[in-house]
Formats: sequence, structure tokens, C-alpha cells
Amino acid sequence: LPYLIAALIFGYLLGSIPFGLLITRTAGLGDVRKIGSGNIGATNVLRTGNKKLAALTLLLDALKGTAAVLIAGLYGPDQAIAAGLGAFLGHLFPVWLGFKGGKGVATYLGILIGLSWPGALIFAAVWLAVAFITRYSSLSALVAAVVVPIGLYYLGYVQTAELFILLSIIVFIKHRANIARLLAGTETRIGSKG
Ligand code: G3P
Repeated sequence: LPYLIAALIFGYLLGSIPFGLLITRTAGLGDVRKIGSGNIGATNVLRTGNKKLAALTLLLDALKGTAAVLIAGLYGPDQAIAAGLGAFLGHLFPVWLGFKGGKGVATYLGILIGLSWPGALIFAAVWLAVAFITRYSSLSALVAAVVVPIGLYYLGYVQTAELFILLSIIVFIKHRANIARLLAGTETRIGSKG
């Protein structure tokens, strides 16, 4: 049990690094929390108009999840799961930002890459398909978050599926405002500023 708690804390510390905020600040773009949706994720960094920084935010927010899982995974599969949960919670509730973090989609994908690459392929395929058709980043993430745990379960990644049921529920809760905007027809599409 001490190793599981250590893995959870290790994951949390990695996950709580707010790359979107750090990257936009370093680039002199100001506080990303004051534009668009107010989120610190790649989708909102894209609303600054800088595609490269948005891609970098996506990459680093994902990689911190992958790194947490792979490093903790050296100590065993349970430690990998604990670190994945920690990284996700760290991204969403970073102590450094008064526990007001991101919505977790990039980190969700990064954790998935570390735990089940076929699961990550399912996520990417579903996200891209929905984004291609609707151009809603939030809707793409929500649909992918429904499909991924089911896919993991059918592929035999039962423990990972259980973790991702929890992560998907949290993703939905964090997207409350997006869901309300989608239903009202006022959600911002990818490529337009909000
Ligand atoms: O990945 C986050 C995305 O699903 C929603 O971001 O900024 O449109 O709330 P945002």
C-alpha cells in the first residue's frame, strides 16, 4: 500500500504541472484563463490563435500522463494505475492553481497511451472522427470518453477499463459547462475564437 500511495502522489505531482498556462505565459500571450472558455487546455490555447503552442500543450499535457504511468509501472501494474489516477487528478486539481485545473482530455489520452496503446488508438480514432464531422473539441472528447472504457473492456484490459470508467465520469462532470453550451447550440467550434 505505501507504494500505491507513493505512485499516486508521484502521478499527482507530474499531472499538476499546468503546461498550457506555463507555455502561454512564457510566450507572452498572457493568462490563458482569461480568454475563451477560461480552461488551461490545448483547445483553449488554440483560441490564442497559436497552433504550435496549442499542439505543444496537447503534447506535454499528454506526455506527463504517459510518463507517470510508465515510470510507476516499473514497480508493477497496480502502481501504474495509481500513478495514472494521480496524474489525472493532478491535472484537474493542481494545488498550485488553487485546485482549479484543466478538463483532463489530453492527460486522459496520455495515461491511456501508457496503459493500453490499442485503447489510445480507439480514443484517437473516435476523437478525430467526431471532430472532423462536428468541429466540437468537447463533444469529440465526450464521445471518445464513452467509447474508450467499453473498448478497453472488450479488448481484455479489465483493470484499465475500470480506471477509465472513473476518469470518463470525471471528464463528463468537468465538461458540464460545455454540455450546456452544446445543448444550447452555443459551443465554440475548433478554429473559431470564443
Ligand atoms: O479538451 C478540452 C475540451 O474538451 C474543451 O475545452 O476550452 O472548449 O472548454 P474548452
